[in-house]
Amino acid sequence: MSAEDPVIDPSTRIAPFQQPGRLDALLAAVRARSPLVPEVGIVLGSGLGGLADDLEDPVAIPFADLPGWPAATAPGHAGRLLLGRLGGKPVVMLQGRFHLYEGNAPGLVVQPVLLFARLGARAVFLTNAAGGLDPTFGPGTLMVIRDHINLTGLNSLIGPNAVSIGERFPDLTEAWSPRLRVRLHAAAVAEGVTLADGIYVGLTGPNYETPAEVRMLAALGGHAVGMSTVLECIAARWAGLEVVGVSLVTNAGAGYSGDPLTHEEVLAAGLEAGPHLARVVRRFIADLD
Ligand code: HPA
Repeated sequence: MSAEDPVIDPSTRIAPFQQPGRLDALLAAVRARSPLVPEVGIVLGSGLGGLADDLEDPVAIPFADLPGWPAATAPGHAGRLLLGRLGGKPVVMLQGRFHLYEGNAPGLVVQPVLLFARLGARAVFLTNAAGGLDPTFGPGTLMVIRDHINLTGLNSLIGPNAVSIGERFPDLTEAWSPRLRVRLHAAAVAEGVTLADGIYVGLTGPNYETPAEVRMLAALGGHAVGMSTVLECIAARWAGLEVVGVSLVTNAGAGYSGDPLTHEEVLAAGLEAGPHLARVVRRFIADLD
């Protein structure tokens, strides 16, 4: 990105039919740096950034070097696309992500997973930090996402469709791949890491929930709540990717403990439980066939 380039407005709406052209440009920029064809794309949420250090022969591309991608990301997020090998398998990783609460348009939020598909990936692994709605989920709980509830009120698939990517009305019956969830639980057993299982509720943030909202979301059937992931899952399914994911529960939902929530506590819990999740992800990738 040079000084003459127009400033990117990340809130500019991107309709589905505009994605193929954007992805062409992104693909060309990545291919100028790496020929690697990934099997899996991994989105590293808060606390999981360390997994990037495990990449073999990594090529790192700062977001600012990718056409249409803004450099800035949330605190605790580095903002790089990485290609390399993990457990011997070719993968692409997103270190940092585009959140709705930063003012990013839904179409930009999902572009990384669409790029994964364009690069050749067949599956995406989504990770995030989340608050516990299930009262038994304390800080450090790792929850395999079995299903989600999209309460962002937004959707990146609104607008004229791009049939070259996917169909108008994607089916989400098995959005979170039962096949890959079985593999994930097996990887956790092999690593001696306990995984819970549950439903992720996605909101826009940036505020944490009120205690009344936490009780409502739990009553709706949610087990964890966060500010990402749901639009990425929907777009990935649209693009034909298999989806698997884990929430790292960094705190009990607002109101359960009586103490206020802080971003620092969220980051600290991520630092503690992140390495366990990293081991599970690495094993899962290595054992994929
Ligand atoms: N709510 C929403 N998002 C979160 C939380 C939470 O309690 N913790 C970490 N991300």
